[in-house]
Amino acid sequence: MKILITGGAGYIGNTIASACLDAGHEVVLLDDLSAGRREFVHDLLFYERNVGDQTLLDRVTPTNTATVLSQSSVPSGNELPKADSVSV
Ligand SMILES: NC(=O)c1ccc[n+]([C@@H]2O[C@H](COP(=O)([O-])OP(=O)(O)OC[C@H]3O[C@@H](n4cnc5c(N)ncnc54)[C@H](O)[C@@H]3O)[C@@H](O)[C@H]2O)c1
Repeated sequence: MKILITGGAGYIGNTIASACLDAGHEVVLLDDLSAGRREFVHDLLFYERNVGDQTLLDRVTPTNTATVLSQSSVPSGNELPKADSVSV
């Protein structure tokens, strides 16, 4: 399967990516690096984009999507609650 992981450069996204690769799946990462870490990207196909980029999402055409992004900072989430409100 081709699995898109949004928030893929984050802690949980990196863990899911490793598990997917171990299971033999193709992995594509999307992350705006607002809190992610580039070293979690490794040599995977990576799009440094906001998850609201519908044009890109239409182009990637994954078999499955794991959505593990959010603002991990509670103050930021309170200040910008709509930043996470997208549908993938
Ligand atoms: N880490 C834990 O132990 C844990 C436990 C339970 C639940 N969770 C939940 O899992 C989710 C992920 O947690 P995490 O620890 O991996 O956080 P994280 O901050 O490490 O990863 C989130 C990633 O999402 C990215 N991101 C945020 N908004 C984005 C956007 N609009 N577009 C693209 N990328 C965006 C960030 O850059 C970051 O890389 C959160 O919802 C968190 O509450 C985490």
